[in-house]
Amino acid sequence: MEEKVLVLDFGGQYNQLIARRVRECNVYCEIKPYTTSMDEIRKFHPIGIIFTGGPNSVYLDSAPHVDPAIFEMGVPVLGICYGCQLMAHTLGGRVTAAQDDSAREYGKTETYYDTTCKLFKGLPEQGISWMSHGDYMAKVPDGFALVGHTKACPNVAIADERRGFYGVQFHPEVNHTQHGTDMIRNFLYEVCHARGEWTMDDFCKRTVARLREKIGPTGRVLLALSGGVDSSVLAALLAEAVGDRLTAVFVDHGCMRKNEGDEVEAAFAKWDMHFVRVNAQERFLSKLKGVTDPQRKRQIIGAEFGYVFLDEAMKFGITKDDFFAQGTIYPDVIESGAGNADVIKSHHNKLLPKEVIEQFKEVLEPLDHLFKDETRQLGRELGLPSYLVDRQPFPGPGLAIRILGDVTAEKLDILREADAIFREEIGRSDCREMCSQYFAVLTNAKSVGVMGDGRTYENTLALRSVTTSDFMTAEWTRIPYDVLDRVSVRIVNEVPHINRIVYDITSKPPATVEWE
Ligand code: XMP
Repeated sequence: MEEKVLVLDFGGQYNQLIARRVRECNVYCEIKPYTTSMDEIRKFHPIGIIFTGGPNSVYLDSAPHVDPAIFEMGVPVLGICYGCQLMAHTLGGRVTAAQDDSAREYGKTETYYDTTCKLFKGLPEQGISWMSHGDYMAKVPDGFALVGHTKACPNVAIADERRGFYGVQFHPEVNHTQHGTDMIRNFLYEVCHARGEWTMDDFCKRTVARLREKIGPTGRVLLALSGGVDSSVLAALLAEAVGDRLTAVFVDHGCMRKNEGDEVEAAFAKWDMHFVRVNAQERFLSKLKGVTDPQRKRQIIGAEFGYVFLDEAMKFGITKDDFFAQGTIYPDVIESGAGNADVIKSHHNKLLPKEVIEQFKEVLEPLDHLFKDETRQLGRELGLPSYLVDRQPFPGPGLAIRILGDVTAEKLDILREADAIFREEIGRSDCREMCSQYFAVLTNAKSVGVMGDGRTYENTLALRSVTTSDFMTAEWTRIPYDVLDRVSVRIVNEVPHINRIVYDITSKPPATVEWE
């Protein structure tokens, strides 16, 4: 049986990060809400369970709890932050609000570990950990030893090694905790005795075999290809599984970056599948005419995408043997409420109306348990070129939300050229590695300038670059002045109708990555 870890979600902000760390250690895991029934947990057959952090205080009646039977399964448990307090509370300890500020801990904290404990085996006895707890374990449950402390708190890590129960009040999953991933790895390998079977090579082979079996010898697949990483990887995976019984429909809405549509087309031309490119720029632009509200732009583009795709599906002649595929990945699923039931966000991947979906035999979403970095790894495994696999995230509505105000063909041309120069200069500079996502924005502001001997009244362009690994929080990138200067001089000289360039120096929060 496939070895799996269960990450039980209590609403903490780093939950996806915990799951990613486990996967990085080559162990498969899934996030499920804390309300998951004991029956379902048993059926999942986890080799270990991790309780996540969460915003609540465990001693309040309204706080999320677990069925104590979970501790009778004979399965090791690692409780993180709230998860640690919950374990202490449930097993007979006592958790209270910290009485004074010294017991409340936030941020980077010097921490001391007992390295005879399996969780800290082979690690230094001292290091920085990332704390975020206002509650305090006044009494730890019977059977637990204190295996970690700080100057303020004697029990930041507790362990009952006999039963395989471990609790840490800090967050091993965040980068600020030194050796945090090693602690998670120790839990998986030293405590849960994982074999480490989760690799992309293996996932790829198993998924291709499963897809072949499901689709059968004659079934066909229609794929919605946006040109982004996820759907590109899915196209490659399906091409591997069913070859020319795959038809990928690439809708070019005209708000792509410079050369992007052609690049996507060229990348897929060599695959053994049918590739249909629908050039629908005019259709989208006419719908967007005069629309300035960003949410409205998103809605219009989303809906039009569905209609264009629907037209193609009709030409395809769907039968009851055919499948529809889309590149949903795990964060899309979790954000739609599969983890903590409270965090519900509508699924952005649902392109087609329900009536159309129902005409297909089934919807295939084979990437729906992969994180972004795993999706990229799979793409490499399948031989996709780096410029498709390693591309920056790009919003579905494309440049339409990087043009503030109404969208026109002329503005799209200006932005495309300026953006291409910015990307080209960053791509060839030494600061490339720092820039996780970088692009230009047409701000809808005009100002006075002087060019040659003449006065100009033209557009202001903003440059945006962020440094981040998860895109949930981000720092503005400290791009060297000489690089910014080169970009600025080139854009003003080479792109008509831009006479002023600004660089965005806000991080997220408080700003977002996109301007919109
Ligand atoms: P914000 O602007 O919310 O963006 O800080 C965070 C990340 O999400 C990307 N983004 C999108 N990605 N479809 C996507 O696939 C979208 O509609 C969309 N909107 C924003 C954004 O580029 C950044 O990487």
